[in-house]
Amino acid sequence: MSKRIRVFATCDIGEAIDLLRKRGYEVEVYPHPEAPPKSLVVEKVKSGIDGLITTLRDVIDAEVFEAGKATLKVVAQFAVGFDNINRADANRYKVPFTHTADVLTEATAEFAFFMMGTLARKMWTAEHLTRENQWGFWHPYLPFLGDEVTGKTVAVIGTGRIGLAFMKKCVGFDMNILCYDPAYENHAFVKTIEEINELRHSRGLVKEKAWIKYVPFEEALHDADFVSVHVPLLREGESATPTYHLFNEETLKLMKSTAYLVNTSRGPVVDEAALARALRENWIAGAALDVYEQEPLPADSPLRDPAIADRCRLMPHFASAARITRLSTDPDKGMAGRCAQGLIDVLDGNYGGDVTKMPYVVNKEGFK
Ligand code: GLV
Repeated sequence: MSKRIRVFATCDIGEAIDLLRKRGYEVEVYPHPEAPPKSLVVEKVKSGIDGLITTLRDVIDAEVFEAGKATLKVVAQFAVGFDNINRADANRYKVPFTHTADVLTEATAEFAFFMMGTLARKMWTAEHLTRENQWGFWHPYLPFLGDEVTGKTVAVIGTGRIGLAFMKKCVGFDMNILCYDPAYENHAFVKTIEEINELRHSRGLVKEKAWIKYVPFEEALHDADFVSVHVPLLREGESATPTYHLFNEETLKLMKSTAYLVNTSRGPVVDEAALARALRENWIAGAALDVYEQEPLPADSPLRDPAIADRCRLMPHFASAARITRLSTDPDKGMAGRCAQGLIDVLDGNYGGDVTKMPYVVNKEGFK
């Protein structure tokens, strides 16, 4: 009798676990909501598991791959971002890893868009006013006003899947779009949006025709009313165009003092100390963050400063946290389904066992 396939999941991913069990896999799920300590992951891998299901909270590096030498066949990441997995180490140990791109694109993009609106229209501050019974009168401009989103200029930093989906939402709000991407420019997409802008204008939906163009980074920051970040986290040495601390004192100072920053990508893309200073000293009008240099956000983070609370929205890495997006077992709809399918592809040897043909495998270069 052949040995049963064994999988360890560092967290529960819902019904997709049953799906794996129904296939005959022996699946152990770490039972607590917090991430397991790395030593436990190493221990499980050392015990000879075939597949490991991870989230962005688990550091997967040489220590883990060494523990799984000759036994660990796949790491299936429940996320699109995979900066927690050392790609060079995975390649060195010849372990393919998968991710859950595409299925969270729209959810993340809409969340970024809603954060932009929440921030600029001061919805959080306004609700607090109501709840705390401070709403003493209706007045033309007191106690404060917000800024409109419609018709404004937005810089989209990173024009991969989520950046493009975010732009689609911006088009519906008549926004002008400044695109910047450190690695790849999608001019076909720009052309499509131009055609839509043309149609919206010629059919009388908008008075002024909106525009879209690729520009250098500095120009994007300088000219935008809103800046939304959609780049992967790439540290020095990982890419010719690293994104670590892309937003720092110098680059934040390029933004208009009336502009807002939104980050749903990865925390370390923004230097938080610099951002807190930018907010305190009013270099920019506000920021909405879903991701942080350290997660969960430490109690002593300068971003929690009550003096900037009215212009700093803080979300708990929540952009993909929608029911279908997170838990659907359909690999075309949910992260859980896609994560499970990525794992199955490798463990069952789908695509003739050719890792380079498996759609959810990230590090195909390691197997060429
Ligand atoms: C979430 O942050 C993801 O990368 O999926």
